[in-house]
Amino acid sequence: MHILLLGSGGREHALAWKLTQSKRCDQLYIAPGNAGTSAHGKNVPLNPLDFEAVGKFALENQIDMVVVGPEEPLVRGIWDYFQENDKLRHIPVIGPSKAGAMMEGSKAWSKKFMQRHKIPTAAYREFSEQEMPQAIEYVRKHSLPVVLKADGLAAGKGVVICQSHEEAIAEIQEMLNGKFGDASARVVVEQFLSGIEFSVFVLTDGKSYKILPEAKDYKRIGEKDAGLNTGGMGAVSPVPFVDAEMWEKVETRIIQPTVKGLRKEKIPYKGFIFIGLIRVNNEPYVIEYNCRMGDPETEVVMPRLKNDLVNLFENCAKGTLGRVKIRADKRVATTVFLVSGGYPGDYAKGKTITGLEEVKDGIAFHAGTALDKNGQVVTAGGRVIALTSLGKDIPGALKKSNRNAKKVQFDGKYFRRDIGKDLL
Ligand code: AMP
Ligand code: GLY
Repeated sequence: MHILLLGSGGREHALAWKLTQSKRCDQLYIAPGNAGTSAHGKNVPLNPLDFEAVGKFALENQIDMVVVGPEEPLVRGIWDYFQENDKLRHIPVIGPSKAGAMMEGSKAWSKKFMQRHKIPTAAYREFSEQEMPQAIEYVRKHSLPVVLKADGLAAGKGVVICQSHEEAIAEIQEMLNGKFGDASARVVVEQFLSGIEFSVFVLTDGKSYKILPEAKDYKRIGEKDAGLNTGGMGAVSPVPFVDAEMWEKVETRIIQPTVKGLRKEKIPYKGFIFIGLIRVNNEPYVIEYNCRMGDPETEVVMPRLKNDLVNLFENCAKGTLGRVKIRADKRVATTVFLVSGGYPGDYAKGKTITGLEEVKDGIAFHAGTALDKNGQVVTAGGRVIALTSLGKDIPGALKKSNRNAKKVQFDGKYFRRDIGKDLL
């Protein structure tokens, strides 16, 4: 098979690594990819949002399957673009339709979906630009903290948790006045839930579903979860507190009604559903849905997944996922992200990365990396390299990830040393 993978982050490197372990994968193209993905296939300078160019490339290179890494092409309708084109329709796109991607593309839509299907989530109200006075009044009387969410995609910056009414009022005004452009033309105001978060990953063919290994990610820049939010500084899988009783609740109250709800509403969905959950008094609530895998969660989920990923995707596309049994490595996976100094604020790019060949007993998944003119790997983003290791427990895996994190060097490198320690 010829497979085209869209995206350029650590998630895509982990997917490329896993896809090319399959005998079914004869040729992998990654668009646009990074320095790490080029070891698994051919990077091609295609913009995943330029559907016409993606379609043309797929035809010219006899692509048999398109795997979509990030959310934006899905939210903009790449699945529908392929479906609506006679020449492209035969090529399965792993990812939901534009309607299905609303799960992530619109917070207001996903909240209504959860209400329709009685899926546990925080209480909320939504407001549009025209409802500014009502929004301010509502926020003024809301219990603290107040959670404000821009409705649309805002590059992970659209959620603001306000500790005072003054801050919340100022923030909702800014949002409704276009702080995030169209993405905040509507704002969801949500009840704050206090608890511990974890992420569940489901692959669905629209009828049946398979649950992949769960993970916990570490979003804050600083150790002990201090400081600004990032794309994710590390992750752990499995999550010890997600026991059989919790899985039972998650599956019956959340996963099943989600998959059934999509089907009942006739929303085509053949791809990943990433469910961000929070445990409150031992009950799971949905914080958010994403229409793709997580990053850095993929960097711990893929190394634990024993199934052939191409086979999983083929069954997903054909609607035969029900036949598959998911097999997971019992060991613990940890990943530790090396980030550029200054991230999540401004940071420099183009710093030479050394020591990659010294990584032992682990995998270096590339995210923001590129090859310079001389073929040297250099930094090209905020999150640079994710160092994944497997061990018999969290300390065992983390020790290896941290050891490798020390070996890989670049100017301004920073990483958290405490990934997973809160779970011990
Ligand atoms: P999101 O961009 O939807 O992933 O939200 C970012 C983060 O905001 C989540 O991972 C949570 O830590 C936090 N968050 C979102 N909604 C809530 C909520 N209702 N209560 C508490 N924390 C929340
Ligand atoms: N790690 C969170 C995300 O991928 O959205």
